[in-house]
Amino acid sequence: MTLYSLFIASHIIGTILGAGAATFAEIFVIKALKDGVVEPLESDYLKTIYTVLRVGLIVAVISGFGFLFLYRIQGLEGLIYETKLWAKLTVVMILLINAIMLQARKIPLLWGSAISFTSWYTAVFLGLFRGISAPYFEILAWYVLAIVAVGFVLDKIHNHFGVKI
Ligand code: HEM
Repeated sequence: MTLYSLFIASHIIGTILGAGAATFAEIFVIKALKDGVVEPLESDYLKTIYTVLRVGLIVAVISGFGFLFLYRIQGLEGLIYETKLWAKLTVVMILLINAIMLQARKIPLLWGSAISFTSWYTAVFLGLFRGISAPYFEILAWYVLAIVAVGFVLDKIHNHFGVKI
């Protein structure tokens, strides 16, 4: 196995764990908050999901920087200047800051959830759709728009299930 395929495998596994856990986090938060009380078992499930999410993020970030290291030693520095990569790094930074703010309860749960969910899927799409090239600020503008849209959809879902935050 080459170092490159090792990084690809870890990057994909990190992505599966992270984006999967981010999805289940939303589902379980809705289920847990339906009655306005987080039971000990629900809290335990949520903690496990957030641990899986953190492991996924760490694995994706380490293997992501592994790619950059390989590009550097293989003289493929050009790839490091791709706008999609910088947009992805920005999204991952926002994901980290948002996680810290959510933990410190400095951001409302609804918008923290919308940022987390949208950031994971934006990072996945930016990794998968290699053919697309767009200016950095255009990618970020779509990202912000997607956060607002996801926030409104989550709000509707929360109202539908009577979630009490
Ligand atoms: C939330 C975290 C992340 C997710 C969900 C994610 C997702 C993905 C996905 C799905 C791919 C496509 C892999 C393939 O087609 O084989 C990819 C590729 C890539 N990612 Fe990430 N990524 C994340 C974080 C990062 C970070 C932090 C970096 C850089 C430091 C990075 C750098 C790259 C690079 C350079 C590629 C292209 C690899 C290649 O084919 O040469 N990623 N990413």
